Amino acid sequence: MMLENKLGISDQIELGKVEEKISKQKAKQLFESGDIKKVNVGTFEGLAFIHYYLFGDIYDFAGKIREVNIAKGNFRFAPLMYLEAALKHIDSMPQSNFDEIIEKYVEMNIAHPFREGNGRATRIWLDLILKKEIRKVIDWNQVDKEEYLSAMERSPVKDVEINVLLKSALTDQIDDRALFMKGIDVSYFYEGYSEFKTEEL
Ligand SMILES: Nc1ncnc2c1ncn2[C@@H]1O[C@H](COP(=O)(O)OP(=O)(O)O)[C@@H](O)[C@H]1O
Ligand SMILES: [Mg+2]
Repeated sequence: MMLENKLGISDQIELGKVEEKISKQKAKQLFESGDIKKVNVGTFEGLAFIHYYLFGDIYDFAGKIREVNIAKGNFRFAPLMYLEAALKHIDSMPQSNFDEIIEKYVEMNIAHPFREGNGRATRIWLDLILKKEIRKVIDWNQVDKEEYLSAMERSPVKDVEINVLLKSALTDQIDDRALFMKGIDVSYFYEGYSEFKTEEL
């Protein structure tokens, strides 16, 4: 289904490319401007800030709670009726060690608060929690796409696969610019976007 966009683009291939280019430029700007330090770490408000930052020039729904129920594969994300309550609960979840942070990440994925762009925005959000709380981030290039997606598909039932997979890719390079940019590219690759390199935008 074609998403309504602010750019008046009605060709879905073109929209995909433009979305990738503009939002990757924004991701780069988020890091380089230091705006990333303004994020309220581990909260829905912080996630909405990231989502709006990336997609605000493209979609009206950027940073806003979705107004439709959505599913992927066989999984239905949080029904609209419970979404706000779920987000309040997630804000209150602890994040003092790796296991707690992954549990919180999995819950945020189940909430899936936005119409689109949840995966890409929430991986940045996850890295900010890891960075603040345990002084580590994920080297996404060490996380295989198919393994990641299948672990996420499994995560609402059991989070052990995603926990083990992401734990094996932790690094102390928390302020490394190149690692951040590469992480954005890999995160977009998981979702089918691989036309542009963030570093080159
Ligand atoms: N079947 C599934 N069950 C649970 N989570 C899923 C499933 N399929 C995908 N996901 C999660 O949803 C994310 C994609 O959500 P989406 O809103 O489309 O984000 P983006 O637009 O950034 O791709 C994936 O990265 C993954 O984390
Ligand atoms: Mg998507």
